[in-house]
Amino acid sequence: MLRLLLLLLSLAAACQADEDFPFRNVSLPWPDRADDLVGRLTAQELVQQLAKGGGGPFGGPAPAIARLGIGPYQWNTECLRGAVKSGQATSFPQAVGLAATFDTDILSQVGRATGLEVRAKHNDFVAKGDYGDHTGLTCFAPVINILRHPLWGRNQETYGEDPHLSGVLGAAYVGGLQGNATDRYLLTGAGCKHFAAYDGPDSYPESRFGFNALVSQQDLEQTFLPQFRRCVQAGSVSVMCSYNAINGVPACANAQLLREVLRERWNFTGYVVSDAGALEFAILFHKYFADRLSSAIGSLRAGVNLDLSACPYESCVVFEQLSVALNTSRISEAELRAAAWPLFLARLRLGEFDPPALNPYSSLRPDQFIQSAAHRALSLTAAQTSLVLLKNLGGFLPDGLIKRPASAWAWSARCPTTCRWSTATTRRIGCRSLSSRCCRRSRSDSVLIKSVTRPTAQTAESIALDRIRPRCLR
Ligand SMILES: *[C@@H]1O[C@H](CO)[C@@H](O)[C@H](O)[C@H]1NC(C)=O
Ligand SMILES: *[C@@H]1O[C@H](CO)[C@@H](O)[C@H](O)[C@H]1NC(C)=O
Ligand SMILES: *[C@@H]1O[C@H](CO)[C@@H](O)[C@H](O)[C@H]1NC(C)=O
Ligand SMILES: *[C@@H]1O[C@H](CO)[C@@H](O)[C@H](O)[C@H]1NC(C)=O
Repeated sequence: MLRLLLLLLSLAAACQADEDFPFRNVSLPWPDRADDLVGRLTAQELVQQLAKGGGGPFGGPAPAIARLGIGPYQWNTECLRGAVKSGQATSFPQAVGLAATFDTDILSQVGRATGLEVRAKHNDFVAKGDYGDHTGLTCFAPVINILRHPLWGRNQETYGEDPHLSGVLGAAYVGGLQGNATDRYLLTGAGCKHFAAYDGPDSYPESRFGFNALVSQQDLEQTFLPQFRRCVQAGSVSVMCSYNAINGVPACANAQLLREVLRERWNFTGYVVSDAGALEFAILFHKYFADRLSSAIGSLRAGVNLDLSACPYESCVVFEQLSVALNTSRISEAELRAAAWPLFLARLRLGEFDPPALNPYSSLRPDQFIQSAAHRALSLTAAQTSLVLLKNLGGFLPDGLIKRPASAWAWSARCPTTCRWSTATTRRIGCRSLSSRCCRRSRSDSVLIKSVTRPTAQTAESIALDRIRPRCLR
């Protein structure tokens, strides 16, 4: 009895101590709470928080900080079209199909359904003490890269080739994932990716881990950045920097992109996470840095907050080197603290440090949402709405069969109805996601088609760019 009493007393004392930290004071504004929390971390704790962005057993989770009552946190979570990679979940149409709905309501509803499943699963994972990859709340979605080259292997993850459409749909998905901006808590955190110009075809068929996108300033501003600006304006808490280099500088070491454009021009206050292994690949593929120490320093300085690793063995995580950098005075503790701030702001806004009773999302359970009737129905509606009739040639379909509202067709007016890629492989990519601009742009490209080879799975990899181009038919 006495032991129980002592235990209760010490628990009460622990709770009391927790409540005393201003970062747990729910009456204070988020930034003040983040200031307090980050101000309490030691330099070595800060390094661990920046280094453990997930990716395998050595990449994450971000470790617990017991003396402050802070638990582990897993940053690595996929949400492209449902709660991906974490067991049972409702499967929604692939992103390029979602884009073919031309319907922001559907994108927002799919985002919300995904967010509910991710949150419910997270509650369940945490209750079981599981902090492995894909158990967190911070989504690596949406993908808003531009479909530029028909053979790029990730076209299906995008919203197509139109920067405007990609931006509008991406913003809707962010809103669905995160919830209403006026709500106290985030349902989940969104993360727009991959920033930027991660679309080929420059340097194709080089590896996506090491290609250098040669992009003119005009193309960057018109094609590769607008949708990211919209995503940031929609409130996304995170942006993922991409594997490729842009005009010679790897995206995750690109201060012009991550600081000047993202933070200074667009006022982004969230965190930048590296694509998995990007900080290592800046050494291995780009040969931009000589070693992990210089990659760690260069990437942090350029504006990366979190290292998502692809590290296959212990302590090869690039940001772990920040400890060496600090001890040899090559970076300051203040820089580490500034980099950790948006990470903890996101965790605060997700409700991690608040009493669960205040957060309506903390009681969500998987059995309420995972493959629920409502989510299955939404998935079906999304799939049905994604079907696109390019052209009803010769009145092939009987009258009255086409029920799509006129608003959807407003989008297609941007597009000459029969622009399509001239290979069998890519004919399936509908014109609705190819604007007239793509035809004009391609026609003026200096590369000209010699003969169209029908690519097989085997030859697709090796087909040179100059043998593929879009053909505009009347
Ligand atoms: C929480 O913050 C409010 C507002 O500053 C303050 O009035 C209150 O005393 C704080 N609560 C605790 C327990 O420190
Ligand atoms: C967001 O919240 C505001 C204020 O509570 C409310 O008026 C608005 O309808 C909400 N929007 C959505 C999309 O739920
Ligand atoms: C960023 O903030 C500045 C200063 O508040 C403002 O003038 C500017 O319009 C903002 N930019 C964007 C893209 O919101
Ligand atoms: C840096 O110094 C701290 C404190 O002396 C020490 O704990 C840590 O192991 C050092 N880091 C490295 C990589 O040597």
